[in-house]
Amino acid sequence: MRVFVAGASGAIGSRLVPRLIEQGHDVIGTSTSSEGAERVRAFGAGVRELDLLDARAVRRAVLETEPDAIVHQATALANVNFSRNFDRVFAQTNRLRIEGTDALLAAARAAGVWRFVGQSYASGRYIREGGWVKTERDPLDAAPVPSMRESFAAMRHLDEAVIDAGGVVLRYGGFYGDAGDGLVEPVRKRQFPIVGDGAGVTSFIHLDDAAAATVLALEHVGPGIFNVVDDEPAPVRQWLPEMAKALGAEPPRHVPRWLARVVAGDAAVMMGTESRGASNEKAKRELGWEPSHPSWRDGFAAAYGVSRPREAAEASAA
Ligand SMILES: NC(=O)c1ccc[n+]([C@@H]2O[C@H](COP(=O)([O-])OP(=O)(O)OC[C@H]3O[C@@H](n4cnc5c(N)ncnc54)[C@H](OP(=O)(O)O)[C@@H]3O)[C@@H](O)[C@H]2O)c1
Repeated sequence: MRVFVAGASGAIGSRLVPRLIEQGHDVIGTSTSSEGAERVRAFGAGVRELDLLDARAVRRAVLETEPDAIVHQATALANVNFSRNFDRVFAQTNRLRIEGTDALLAAARAAGVWRFVGQSYASGRYIREGGWVKTERDPLDAAPVPSMRESFAAMRHLDEAVIDAGGVVLRYGGFYGDAGDGLVEPVRKRQFPIVGDGAGVTSFIHLDDAAAATVLALEHVGPGIFNVVDDEPAPVRQWLPEMAKALGAEPPRHVPRWLARVVAGDAAVMMGTESRGASNEKAKRELGWEPSHPSWRDGFAAAYGVSRPREAAEASAA
């Protein structure tokens, strides 16, 4: 099919586009810059320079390229400086999730495109009560911490708008698998601590596995929400030391909740102590997807490569 990928030059788009082409799809990828467009062209895709916040241009691009399916992978998270104010950091991404989604869906309606896949997020979004691993049927956090309210509302908007249009929402785990991953520098510099008891659970996903699930999601008929995460949601106190080890960094520091709240804000405390992870059973069952990196344990080691996780080394020595 002909697939229109909004955000084709980014971390996920640049893994997705070559994979789609490899599987015989015809791809039109977008970027906002000529350098990004050049990168997308090099994958063998057709290219449109497009700002998703320009709804008329989006409509024109979709009508002119006549795709069978649209994938929304646009975010604005490159080179952001994470600060106490989570919503300020995500402001442009939130616009892409609200206005960008609406523009793409309106264009899809105008062009008669009924396959639509949107990028959403899983870790830390589910209700912070009960079990530590949530399925798509569990409620989302209805009372997010203050600094994340706008970002949670934007993701909720995307989820609901895509489902209402009969599309597929992929709630990805935290992406990793690239040397430029956002956590690499903070963990290397010991700027990412274990907060309190470090019980907050994260679900990760290797970028290659996220891309593979996205290709399969294009074949899925009807509305659907899928957690696209690995098999091992884990508390920060487990995964952070292993990531530091894989990067050859010193072990993470520990800080009490009150200090993390003052220095890093309520989002950092929530993610570090209360966040819930997500189950991938539905994606495996209904999309026929299997992650090639089922656990971040080996995934981090493969991606960052300095050392293997202790458990894996012990298991293979036994
Ligand atoms: N689930 C997750 O954990 C998650 C999700 C998203 C991102 N991230 C992380 O965030 C970091 C940055 O992500 P990234 O490298 O993908 O960069 P990014 O800046 O988030 O860009 C993603 C894509 O969106 C496009 N885009 C940005 N603004 C746009 C606009 N106004 N209109 C249309 N398209 C627009 C970009 O195109 P151009 O820049 O070419 O214009 C790019 O193709 C990476 O480390 C990534 O792994 C993580």
